[in-house]
Amino acid sequence: MRKLLASLAITMGAVGAAHAQTDYQANADASAGQQLSQTCVACHGQQGISPSGAFPNLAGQQMSYLAKQIMDIRDGRRMVPQMAGMVDNFSDQDAWDAAARFARQDANLGQTSDEDAELLARGEELYRAGDMSKGIPACSACHTPTGVGIGSAVYPGLSGQHAQYTVSTLQAFASGDRNNSPNNMMGDIASKMSDSDMEAVANYLLGLN
Ligand code: HEC
Ligand code: HEC
Repeated sequence: MRKLLASLAITMGAVGAAHAQTDYQANADASAGQQLSQTCVACHGQQGISPSGAFPNLAGQQMSYLAKQIMDIRDGRRMVPQMAGMVDNFSDQDAWDAAARFARQDANLGQTSDEDAELLARGEELYRAGDMSKGIPACSACHTPTGVGIGSAVYPGLSGQHAQYTVSTLQAFASGDRNNSPNNMMGDIASKMSDSDMEAVANYLLGLN
């Protein structure tokens, strides 16, 4: 009986946490987020489209994913030295508010380079079908065929992202410098990709929409 009660309490705790997350999302206030993100735009751009491939575009990104990243950065689960101290004082609701501000902006529309036909074909193949011989699954299975991601599953959008950032974050997943994906799923995938696989998929993603 005691065991049963304990597991009931755990279940109810989990339900409580899920409710809290839904509340944060439902209450997310983009204009409060606007106030909170005045310092962010120096790197991420007024329109959420950053001026440099060293900084990811945030515009049009899934709100749930942005909120998770802000809280991961705040709590040290993802190391971003450039953002040291900037989100330390954010509450969970602040993270969702800032996420709402960027999520509703129009995503970047990039242009794939088709100069290297082989590279482009490899990028498309990896994205749509994966590479069975290397154990790489199709990216589109989680990130969707148009690359917009799935908010309810916290799968980020990838389309229109700076190719430089896509490559560097895949490298970070592969080396373990970034290790905040659930069950290390992106670490497993990225560590099976060669440098040219990463470049190929990043170029393909830039123009995907
Ligand atoms: C000095 C530049 C700088 C400023 C200012 C800055 N960031 Fe960042 N941000 C970065 C860099 C660099 C990364 C990516 C680091 C990496 O490669 O993993 C990043 C990553 C992120 C990500 C993850 C995006 C993704 O696609 O995974 C989010 C969300 C984010 N920043 C939100 C914010 C918010 C909110 C603020 C303001 C409170 C802010 N940033 C201010 C440089 C900055
Ligand atoms: C099983 C689902 C799944 C598959 C398959 C998958 N991903 Fe992901 N990916 C995720 C999740 C979940 C995250 C977010 C991790 C986090 O919470 O930080 C992610 C994050 C990413 C990011 C970071 C986005 C950002 O803004 O920082 C990139 C880049 C990425 N994936 C590329 C790929 C590529 C390329 C492939 C195919 C070779 C792929 N993914 C296959 C689930 C998946």
